[in-house]
Amino acid sequence: MEKIIVNIKKDVEALLNTDKSGHGMDHIERVLNLSYDLANNMNVNMHIVSLIALLHDVDDYKLFGEDNAKNLSNARRILEKYEIDDNIKEIVLTSISQIGYSKRLKGIKPQYLEGMIVSDADMLDAMGACGIARSIAYASTKGRKIFDENIFPTLDLDASGYVKEKDTTMINHVFEKLLKLKDLMLTDNAKDLALIRHNFMVNFLKEYFKELKLENWEIFLEKYLEK
Ligand code: ADP
Ligand code: NI
Repeated sequence: MEKIIVNIKKDVEALLNTDKSGHGMDHIERVLNLSYDLANNMNVNMHIVSLIALLHDVDDYKLFGEDNAKNLSNARRILEKYEIDDNIKEIVLTSISQIGYSKRLKGIKPQYLEGMIVSDADMLDAMGACGIARSIAYASTKGRKIFDENIFPTLDLDASGYVKEKDTTMINHVFEKLLKLKDLMLTDNAKDLALIRHNFMVNFLKEYFKELKLENWEIFLEKYLEK
């Protein structure tokens, strides 16, 4: 790995190492590795891919507030500290501003291939076994329930509903966001991986409701999947 990328990684670690809600350095490491896998046979600038992957969450509104999210203050400061070329800096910052589930709900999506790769990697890490583990970690830190058999998912959450984060359960979050991610992949390489991770989550839910003997939830899941 390039020296500059190793150093930037340390700066990112210093910013994110206190996070327990699923945005920690482990998430960034997985997104970086997945981005390299996806970029493998593609004609992209790996230096730019690395920068976007490392910096994509350093101004997240949930961790650093709306002002940072708008100005990308941390990402900008780090890119300037390492004297990254202006044209590369521009591609990286634009891409970061175009990555994220709630942005996608508003119709915003990455315009550069490098941004598409990191967006796919970021969403893949919210799916599958890692995705289930992260959403359990998130629910625990927020004091949310894993499951409540009396609260069914809201299936038409638009951007405002999603950002408001009503008191939802971890299982409902799987329906409300995670099962929708497979259709948001932008690169062909990510589509196959997304399907594997999607099917794992469906099987997890099936087994969960079977263990709890909740036939109404099993039927709810079947109906959801038919749509
Ligand atoms: P990302 O960094 O992939 O854009 P988010 O910022 O949306 O992800 O959320 C971070 C992690 O926390 C993800 O794995 C996500 O699924 C999980 N998460 C977010 N909101 C909830 C919730 N209401 N309940 C459970 N998990 C959640
Ligand atoms: Ni992320």
